[in-house]
Amino acid sequence: MSHVTPPEEATASSPTPPALPAKRVRVQHIARAKAEGTPLTMLTAYDSLTAPILEAAGVDMLLIGDSLGNVMLGHSSTLPVTLEDMERATAAVARSTSRAMIIADLPFGTYEDTAEHAFASAARLMKAGAHAVKLEGGQKRGHIISALVAAGIPVCAHLGYTPQSENTLGGPRMQGRGDGAQALRADAKAVEEAGAFALVLEMVPASVARQITQAAAIPTIGIGAGPDTDGQVLVWSDMAGYSHWVPSFVHKFGQLGPALRDAASDYVAAVRARRFPGPDNYKND
Ligand code: KIV
Repeated sequence: MSHVTPPEEATASSPTPPALPAKRVRVQHIARAKAEGTPLTMLTAYDSLTAPILEAAGVDMLLIGDSLGNVMLGHSSTLPVTLEDMERATAAVARSTSRAMIIADLPFGTYEDTAEHAFASAARLMKAGAHAVKLEGGQKRGHIISALVAAGIPVCAHLGYTPQSENTLGGPRMQGRGDGAQALRADAKAVEEAGAFALVLEMVPASVARQITQAAAIPTIGIGAGPDTDGQVLVWSDMAGYSHWVPSFVHKFGQLGPALRDAASDYVAAVRARRFPGPDNYKND
């Protein structure tokens, strides 16, 4: 990707100022960004160590994604993630930030069957500090989105590759190709009509994401969906180069994994050589 500034050219002392003029980013700011053509930024966050750093970088929305299962808990999918896992992470991010809009994923098994179940689950995430919830699915979730919005809970929908359905979708693969494009457009229309304030499009052809974005009144946030959505979202640890392997739609804007390994390795070497603690690190009395 040639259009991104290589990480080595970025200066640590000049964080990008927030694009949206708001003390707290809310749904009206997200809507206005689309109307004004201001690109929206979203990153995942799972804890109070990282979230304030991402917020200080000017990110508009922090997503407590259920990717927490893979990224933080060592699961091989998002399916085992519980509401308790999500509540704890949401509360940690909420306690440590003040400006970004906090969106929490409804985990698998906590919202799909009835609007009542969805409300009970979403209410727990809102009480933990979320300002909105995200859920996967289109037309078949329309009544659930409407019920949550009617109950005062903003909803971000998630279409395209939806990881909670990985077993029916046959694993992480592009969605909305060929005949699938029409179904995806219909799903996008349905979630907008149901009252969703934004729409994540994951792993869909850029041309289809562009069509949906042009047709939709609500902002689209892309991940592996090309450059023409209203905003972009990435898993923060992928974005920062924490792990060696990242999906092909990710650009590593940093090299945190190697930097952390080097720091830990210097520490180990210093302890073994009795260079740490040094005179600055302790008192004799
Ligand atoms: O859980 C997550 O991190 C997500 C993003 C990939 C959009 O849903």
